[in-house]
Order: sequence, then C-alpha cells, then structure tokens
Amino acid sequence: MIIQPRVRGFICLTSHPEGTAQHVKQQIDYVKSKGKIANGPKKVLVIGASTGFGLASRITAAFGSDAATIGVFFEKPAAPGKPGTAGWYNTAAFEKEAQAAGLYAKSINGDAFSDEIKKQTIDLIKADLGQVDLIVYSLASPRRTHPKTGVAHASVLKPIGQSFTDKTVDFHSGVVSDISIQPVENEEDIQNTIAVMGGEDWKFWMTELKAAGVLAEGVKTVAYSYIGPELTYPIYRNGTIGKAKDDLEGTVPVLNDLLKELNGRSYVSVNKALVTQSSSAIPVVPLYISLLYKVMKAKGIHEGTIEQMQRLFADRLYNGNEIALDEKGRIRVDDWEMRADVQKEVAELWGQITTENLEGLADIAGYRNDFFNLFGFNFDAVDYEKETEEVVAIPSIKENA
Ligand code: NAI
Repeated sequence: MIIQPRVRGFICLTSHPEGTAQHVKQQIDYVKSKGKIANGPKKVLVIGASTGFGLASRITAAFGSDAATIGVFFEKPAAPGKPGTAGWYNTAAFEKEAQAAGLYAKSINGDAFSDEIKKQTIDLIKADLGQVDLIVYSLASPRRTHPKTGVAHASVLKPIGQSFTDKTVDFHSGVVSDISIQPVENEEDIQNTIAVMGGEDWKFWMTELKAAGVLAEGVKTVAYSYIGPELTYPIYRNGTIGKAKDDLEGTVPVLNDLLKELNGRSYVSVNKALVTQSSSAIPVVPLYISLLYKVMKAKGIHEGTIEQMQRLFADRLYNGNEIALDEKGRIRVDDWEMRADVQKEVAELWGQITTENLEGLADIAGYRNDFFNLFGFNFDAVDYEKETEEVVAIPSIKENA
C-alpha cells in the first residue's frame, strides 16, 4: 500500500516500514561509528524496547557491545491494508540487522505490567540466555492494569496545587498560544500517575527476575527520568508526572538492597528532553524542546536519543570507573541540556517567542522532522508515493506477522 502520514494532534496514525528501517539503520550506524564499548553488557533485557530511549538502549547494547538482547514492548502488528505501529516496524528492522550481524535478538509483544509477560520473559531468558547482566526499564504508558489488584490506573499530566498558564505550540500549525492547565482535583490522580509511571513495576520486574535466578553476578539495571528547566516545573517535575519520577528514583535504594547479594546495582539516568511519542503529548514541553534544539544545535552539543544512550553506556554505565552521580544519586546525561549558558539562552528566547517569530527563534522545523522520523517519514531515501509492503514480520514473533 501507499503509506503517507495521517496526523491527529500529537499522534501519527500511520507508520512507514521502510522509513522506520532507515531510522533504525541510522541509529545502528551512529553506534558503530563510535566504536565498541569496552566491558559493555553482554546479555540485555530492555523493557520498553521498541521506540525512544528503550530502542536506542537496545541498539547501543547490541551494536556497541555485541550484546544478545531481549526486547519487551506493546505494539500493533500490521495487517493487510493497515500499517503496524512504528515500534513494530522498528523492531522488525532491528532484529533483521541484529541477525545479519550474528547477534541474538528476540522480542515479546504484550503488556509488560502483567505477570504473564514477566513470566514469558523469564522463560525466554532461561531457555536462551540463562541470565541477563543489564535490565533497561524504559516504559512510557498512559495506563497500567495492576497485576495484583486488577485496578486499571490512568495517569494524568497536571500541575499540583494551582493552575498553570504558559506558552505552548501546536507544532504542526506553528501557532504559539497560552494554555491554562487546571491542577489535579484529588490525591487519587496523583496516586494513579505514580502507579503507572512510578517505580513499583520496575521493582516487580527485578524481584521476579531475581527470584527466578536469571540475574547475573554484578547485574545492573537502569530506568529513565527527567528534570528539565524551572519553566516546565509546574507541568513536569512539580506536577503529577514529577511525583511518579520521585517514586521511580526512590526505588533505586530498594533495588540496590535487592541486588546486594549479587553485587548488583540499580540506577536512574536523567536524560535530555527529546522528541518521542511520549514527550510530544505533554503541553508546553514541545515548545521548550524546539527552543532547546535551536540553542544546543548552535552550540554543537545537540544529541538525539541514540547519542544520549551511547554516551550513557560508554561514558557512564560501562566507563570502567566509578560512575559519577548527582547529590540525589542519579546519573546525569541531561548535563548539556542543563548547562547554565544553554538554559539562560532558552529562557531569553522563551520570553520573546510568538507565532510570528517561531520559525526564526525556535527549531520548530527540527522538532517536526524528528516527530515525522519517529513514524518513518521525511527520509530522503524513501519514496512515499510508491507502494510498500505493509505486512512486515518481526522474525522472533512469527505468529503475529
Ligand atoms: P516512548 O513512548 O518512545 O517508548 C515507550 C516504550 O514503552 C515503547 O517501547 C512502548 O512499546 C513501551 N510500552 C508502553 N506501554 C507498555 C506496556 N504496557 N507494556 C509493554 N511495553 C509498553 O517513550 P520515551 O520517551 O522513550 O520514554 C521512555 C522513558 O524515558 C520514560 O520513563 C520517560 O519518562 C523517560 N524520559 C523521556 C524523556 C523524553 O524527553 N522523551 C526525557 C527523559 C526521560
């Protein structure tokens, strides 16, 4: 079929198999260009492996460290006349590249919050790898059905205490406007957001993996967090999602206790703000990202998800030395985003930005391009007027193809 982008707000309903394959290939090429990561991981489980930071982590482990990888995610396969989701196509492309390079790669498509998918994953590790030495926890989801209580929790993206008004952008039309977001009305919304994006599920995973004996001596686990600038605090770090991130970060010492007898360690890495399917859903943040891109590109310090994850693995997690942590025990690869000179320039631009000057002051073109790239669009090497085969199999998930 001919596949063109069909956009609804911050979601693109279609994805292009050849374009997503290009996107994956570019990321693999980047990791290869940086050379092998000495003492990198060898057997890796990535939970949330199909897009964004999780996919970039999987690519870094595989092509930067020759690691065998198991990826868990929740994606829709393609059907005749109906393209699959980007994460489905990404994984199909990743597995084919991994196979061609002689690397083990298998995937599990299903709800990572469920006991069933945890069990399937453990069975696969036992059968094929025996143990894993790195677990990357990179889920981003709007909801979670709790595996023990059956309660369906939905997260909300709201300020706490008082309403918040600031600028936002519709990145398709380029219209900058004010948005007012009302605060959460009850504690329940906060608790629900923590239930979805906090650390409990990460703890469940690690507890069950350990009980099954599939964690290697010296195992590491890492989950991803965000802080960002003061201007997004009301909607991000001091809002409902920030409470969930506090909870996630608070899980690190709990997991360190759990992993002690294996000489294992758990980490949270604070990453840079980037265009992903999840971040484009947060009000105000896309405008901040497009200004941040402008400033960081001008300074030659811009990174995408793959550059961030390659640096996390090579310069932090597997640098062969002590891993530098901040005062709260977190790894920081948002260090360049948070540099004083970068933040000062972004804040100055923030004060000036309007619909009229958006294209000049902000890298809104870069934002849009990254957004379309997520779904396999805007790649020069792909002819989007041409028929493409939409039904693409993930080699290790034969029954769904
Ligand atoms: P993303 O939307 O690109 O990736 C989410 C992944 O989770 C996908 O692989 C998806 O299939 C999987 N997933 C979602 N629900 C699932 C379920 N029920 N079962 C199995 N898999 C499921 O998101 P992104 O942005 O890469 O986020 C990953 C982590 O990085 C999150 O913790 C996020 O808060 C964090 N982060 C994101 C930043 C950003 O700017 N995008 C910045 C710093 C941290």
